[in-house]
Amino acid sequence: MCGIVGYVGPRKVVPIILEGLKRLEYRGYDSAGLVYLLDGKVHKHRSEGKLANLEELMEDVDDGGSHIGLGHTRWATHGPPSEANAHPHSDCSGELVVVHNGIIENFDTLRRELTAEGHIFTSQTDTEVLAHLIEEYLDGDLVAAVQAAVRDVEGSFALGVMWSGQPDILVAARNQSPLVLGILEGRGCFLASDIPALLPYTRNIIYLEDQEMAVLRADGLEVMTLADGRPLEKEIHTIDWNAAMAEKAGYRHFMLKEIYEQPLAVLNTFRGRLEPESGVINLPEIGLDAAELRNLSRIFLVACGTSWHAALVAKYWLEKWVGIPVEVDIASEFRYRRLLLGPEVLVIPISQSGETADTLAGLRLAAKLGSKIISICNVVGSTITRESDGTIYTHAGPEIGVASTKAFTSQLTALFLLTLYLGQELETIERERRIEMARALVALPPIIEKELPRLQKDMDVLAADFSRSRDFLYLGRGENFPIALEGALKLKEISYIHAEGYAAGELKHGPIALIDREMPVLALVPQDRVYGKVISNVQEVKARHGRMILVGSEGDEALAEIADYAVYLPRINEELNPILYVIPLQLLSYQIANMRGCDVDQPRNLAKSVTVE
Ligand code: F6R
Repeated sequence: MCGIVGYVGPRKVVPIILEGLKRLEYRGYDSAGLVYLLDGKVHKHRSEGKLANLEELMEDVDDGGSHIGLGHTRWATHGPPSEANAHPHSDCSGELVVVHNGIIENFDTLRRELTAEGHIFTSQTDTEVLAHLIEEYLDGDLVAAVQAAVRDVEGSFALGVMWSGQPDILVAARNQSPLVLGILEGRGCFLASDIPALLPYTRNIIYLEDQEMAVLRADGLEVMTLADGRPLEKEIHTIDWNAAMAEKAGYRHFMLKEIYEQPLAVLNTFRGRLEPESGVINLPEIGLDAAELRNLSRIFLVACGTSWHAALVAKYWLEKWVGIPVEVDIASEFRYRRLLLGPEVLVIPISQSGETADTLAGLRLAAKLGSKIISICNVVGSTITRESDGTIYTHAGPEIGVASTKAFTSQLTALFLLTLYLGQELETIERERRIEMARALVALPPIIEKELPRLQKDMDVLAADFSRSRDFLYLGRGENFPIALEGALKLKEISYIHAEGYAAGELKHGPIALIDREMPVLALVPQDRVYGKVISNVQEVKARHGRMILVGSEGDEALAEIADYAVYLPRINEELNPILYVIPLQLLSYQIANMRGCDVDQPRNLAKSVTVE
C-alpha cells in the first residue's frame, strides 16, 4: 500500500525522500511523487510507474538543496495509476500539499460539496479532497485546519501535510493507517509509513497512534490528540535492526534472501522459548494461567493470505495436541459475520506486518466482545501488537519481498510453540512427547540450512520444464493441505501462472476433470499417517496422464517410479513437515517467476502491507 516519507531539518530533503521511498517499495506502488519548498514556493514532481522514473525526472531538476518536503508511492485505489492521480495532491493555490495512505470513504460527498464551493479538482483520487478540505478551513494555522478537516472525514488515513504559509513545519496525522516518526537529535525530524525508510538516518522512532497528530520542525516534534490538540508524552523506541538487515546482502532478490534466511528465522522464533532437555516451553506473552486456559471453550485464528495458511496448519496441531476446538477465519469474512465470541474464547490474529486492515478490524471486534487477544506478529510495535493483550513475536527480521516466505515459516514455528505450551499448561501433551517435539524443532534449522542449495538446484530443473505451464495443481492432505494452498498462492502471485491448491481427497469431486497431459500436479507425499491415501490420489492423476511432481520422504523409491519428478526431503518429526515442505514450493515459484522475467519482489497489483479493506 502507499508509502509516505517526510523530512524537515538541516539536510537536503530530496535525496532523503528518494532513498526513503526506495525502502518502502516493498509495500507495492504504481506511481510516485514528491514536493519540497524552495524560495517560499511549493515545487511538485510526479511520475507514473517505478520510482526510477521519478529519480530520472529529478536528475534535471535543481531543488536548491531544499530542507523540507514530502514524498509518496501510490498504490491505486480511486482512479488508475497516472501522473495526475499520483500524490502529493494540492489545494487550489498549489501551495498546500498532502500525501495520504488509506481510504476516504465519504470522498464523493466531500468532493461534491467542495466543488460547489468553487474548488477545482485535478485528479480522480479520494486524497485530493483532503487538500481542498484543509484549504477550506485554513486561516493562517495549518495545525488547526488539519484538525478541523479530519473531523469531516470518514475512513482511514496516514497524512503528511505541508504549506508554504508555514514553511518550517510538516504536519502528520493518523487514523487506521500506519505512520511512524523519527528523530535525529538536533538534525531534523522524519515521518514515514514504515521504519525501513528511516533506518539510514535514525533508529529513534515514535509510533503515532490512531487519532493522533504531530507537528515536525527541524529542532524537534510535538505529538498531540487529533480531536482537540491536547499534548501527548510519547515514548521514543530504539529500533535494533540496522539498515543492512533490510538490504539484499548479495542475493538477486529479497525473496531469495528471505528464503535463505529461514533457518535463522525459525531459530530466532523458538530461541529462549523452549528447553529441549526438560520439554519446558516458556511463553509468558500468553498471560493466562492454567485455570484461565482451562476455561477456554474455543480458539479462533484470524488472518489473511499466507498468514491464513499458517492458521490452517495450526488448527491441525492445536486440535490434535491440545483438544480445544479451533476455528480458522479469513479476516475479511470474520469481520462481517455474526461472531459468537466472549471471554471464554481466545482470539489469535496472525499477521506478518501487524497492519493488515481486515485482521485489525477482526481483532477490534473480538476485543469488544470480551475475548482475550494474543496476536502472532513479526513487526514490533505495529498496530495489531499494540491492540492485543499479548503478542508472540515471530523474530524473522524485516520481510521486504512482497511474497511472504520467512514470515510464514516463523509463524508456523510460533504456532507450534503455542501448541506445545498449551499442551504443557493443560497437561494434554506428556513431558516425554514435548521433549521429543522440542528436540525435533531445535534440529530443524540446520536441516533446512543444509537442504536449501540442493533444493534450489532441483527446482531450477523443474522450473525449466514448467515455466511455460498455464495452470498448476497442488495437492496435500492433513497439515500439508494448507501447504498445498500456500504453494499455489506463491506461484500465482509472483509468476502469474494460474494455480490451485486442493485437499488431495477432493480431487475426484471436481478438479480431476482438469487433468490432461498438459496439467502439472505437485503433490506433497511425506511418509506420514495419510501417505497411502495421498498415493491413491496421485495414481488417479497418473491414470489420466497428468504431469506429476511428488515431494516426499528421502528413500521412498516408489515416488520416482510414479512421478515425472521426485523431490526428496529428509525425514523429520512428521508434525514439523509443513515447515520443511513449503520450502521447495517457495523455491519453485521463485525460479519459475525468474525464468518468466517477472518482478519477483514487487509482483504486479500486490502490496506488502494491505492497510485498506
Ligand atoms: C502472500 C502474502 C499475503 C499476506 C497477507 C497478510 O505472499 O504475503 O497473502 O500474507 O496480505 O499479510 P499480513 O501477514 O501482513 O497480515
